[in-house]
Amino acid sequence: MAELKILKFPDRRLRLKAQPVAAAGGRLRRLADDMLETMYAAGGVGLAATQVNVQQRLLVMDVSPERESPQCLVNPEIVDAEGEVVSEEGCLSVPEFTAGISRAERVTVRGRTVDMEPVELELEGLAAICVQHEIDHLNGKLFIDYLSPLKRRMLRKRLEKSERAGRPEAAEL
Ligand code: NI
Repeated sequence: MAELKILKFPDRRLRLKAQPVAAAGGRLRRLADDMLETMYAAGGVGLAATQVNVQQRLLVMDVSPERESPQCLVNPEIVDAEGEVVSEEGCLSVPEFTAGISRAERVTVRGRTVDMEPVELELEGLAAICVQHEIDHLNGKLFIDYLSPLKRRMLRKRLEKSERAGRPEAAEL
């Protein structure tokens, strides 16, 4: 396995829309393994292929406190969503910044395993938030896109000054 480089905002490649994965294979499994290693090394809860400059619809996540329940989802699609919840989010591609973001509280996700077997998951809590955040990445969207223009401007300024204002209690997604 190999650790991959995570693209950082405002890299334009984070805005590319990922393409559906067509077939299973060694390359897909290796990419999923490398993404998991990268996610664990960075202390993240989730990672989308877009973040490592691969425009394929693949995400990995592990929301377990023990960090031993890796999940991979290929071609994920939200087919049902319920409720609304605001939680503090961070992102491995937007270092040292977190914000309260509103998302669906429960989601049903359809997709495929890395072996391209169909799978359907009903998720809630951090897993539901994480999967919505990662699918956004696959569509070229970042969590900071939900912020007001004023807050986004403040974030850009902060990044330019490279101030460190990390809030470690938020999940890095
Ligand atoms: Ni993220």
